[in-house]
Amino acid sequence: MKFLLISFLILALASATALAYDPSPLQDICVATNDLESGVFVNGKFCKDPKQATADDFLFMGLRKPGNTSNPLGSKVTQAFVDQFPGLNTLGISMVRVDFAPGGLNPPHNHPRGTEVQVVVEGTLLVGFVTSNELNNTLFTKVLYKGDVFVFPIGLIHFQLNIGNTYALSFSGFSSQNPGLTTIANAVFGAKPPMSADVLTKAFQVDKKVVDYLQARFWYDNN
Ligand code: GLV
Ligand code: MN
Repeated sequence: MKFLLISFLILALASATALAYDPSPLQDICVATNDLESGVFVNGKFCKDPKQATADDFLFMGLRKPGNTSNPLGSKVTQAFVDQFPGLNTLGISMVRVDFAPGGLNPPHNHPRGTEVQVVVEGTLLVGFVTSNELNNTLFTKVLYKGDVFVFPIGLIHFQLNIGNTYALSFSGFSSQNPGLTTIANAVFGAKPPMSADVLTKAFQVDKKVVDYLQARFWYDNN
């Protein structure tokens, strides 16, 4: 009986670890530092000595300024992830600001490590996410107006399009300090080195000319 109880306890502890995403804070604060003396890696960032932390470590002013939307997509995402905002380290949370020119698109992408919750501050956005194959790639879509909030579940492909005639602005929170970003078109057609045309012609059921065209379009730096 005692053995069974101990085995059960070990199993319960092991599954809690296996299900964990960002680590829960193990201390009050853990401001990230890039000042590494050795070549050791951790799952996340090293913390600076908590006694050296200041209020400035917990302030990020990088979302004040509108992003430059003069690009082919007409949108700009400004990130406040742990790389830009070290005070987020171990807290399992982060943000972005997204600026949209009229007609601007934040193209289909996913965040491999975080759910996103978005609030529209200005303008009108058509947003949506698509479920995985298991749920028949179902599209869940809505038009959002100023003040509306929409949630994009972790890992699912989603987009936002400014369907108004004016500039639009939104902010999103993420359930990770480093949710990650994969822009679908760039990952598939802009992979470096490029994916074989044999893979892409079969996968998309198109001829090589179409693949060549798309690979040329997306052969640019993803950032
Ligand atoms: C919006 O979906 C974003 O991730 O920037
Ligand atoms: Mn997103």
